[in-house]
Amino acid sequence: MKEQLRQIEEKAKEAISAAADLKALEELRVRVLGKKSELSGILKQMGKLSAEERPKMGQLANKVRSDIETLLSEKTEALRNAAQNARMAAETVDVTMPGTKPPVGRLHPLQTVENEIKEIFLGMGFSVADGPEVEYDYYNFEALNLPPDHPARDTQDTFYITDQILLRTQTSSVQVHVMEHQKPPIRIISPGRVYRSDAVDATHSPLFHQIEGLVVDKGITMADLKGTLELLMRRLYGEDCKIRLRPHHFPFTEPSAEVDVMCFSCHGKGCRVCKGEGYIELLGAGMVHPKVLEGCGIDSSVYSGFAFGLGLERVAMRRYNISDMRLLFENDMRFLEQFR
Ligand code: DAH
Repeated sequence: MKEQLRQIEEKAKEAISAAADLKALEELRVRVLGKKSELSGILKQMGKLSAEERPKMGQLANKVRSDIETLLSEKTEALRNAAQNARMAAETVDVTMPGTKPPVGRLHPLQTVENEIKEIFLGMGFSVADGPEVEYDYYNFEALNLPPDHPARDTQDTFYITDQILLRTQTSSVQVHVMEHQKPPIRIISPGRVYRSDAVDATHSPLFHQIEGLVVDKGITMADLKGTLELLMRRLYGEDCKIRLRPHHFPFTEPSAEVDVMCFSCHGKGCRVCKGEGYIELLGAGMVHPKVLEGCGIDSSVYSGFAFGLGLERVAMRRYNISDMRLLFENDMRFLEQFR
């Protein structure tokens, strides 16, 4: 019996050390220590031994059993470690590999120009006002001295929500909102989207951007208007930039002017860009019409003001030498990536 036990232990040792994985080890445990195992068979035969031999053999059998159990748990531990090490090795990240560069966005040229113009005006003590893009006819036309049958409305056909509600055609509507809520002195600019029912081509888009300006105070004159715009253009196009005011008509200003800037390309000599003029038309401006002031509750015998409206696309196209307005709206990355 002693020899049998020794052999059991010997065979178990070999089998345990040869076990390749946890599953094989578990099967082995059942086979060596389970109810039907050789070892259990021996223990059942203990009763046949003499009273003298029984405790000795019992002791030996128990020792064999516990030794095997120890070997099994050691092997289990070893196999687990090996499995974990293998997994860690497989999942190792090589931190020296080159990474993937995340794409970095940049500002749209229209936004860049808008930011620049805002900075220039903030430096002159202006604040930025905002107004709705979906607007009442009253703010977009009527309060700006464009009554329902005014012919100038034809040049600003737009998209109507109802008879009285439309997409604004000009940021000039913000002038009225501001003057209704604020007493002079007023010094604001208002950038934003405007809409007109125009077909798309190189110089037209049904959606474009304007920046409105409005100053109302005691003693404001055309000289303030010219000085302010001259400073703006110098900052935008260089210190030698000159502007020129031509008489014009806008219903909400009197007198009104169209403002041209010296051609950045030929510096006033006349070239292809300015079609030989030396100057390029850039914005509309004028002294706020007394009717507009009065309509907003501002006493036109005490206060006067100037206003101007600037097309942002035009400024950006001049600035970056872009010949087709559509490029600004198509959002082709190959085009936009050039602007840093
Ligand atoms: N709102 C005019 C337009 O869209 C531009 C304009 C002209 C704005 C004269 C003004 C102004 O404030 O005084 O054509």
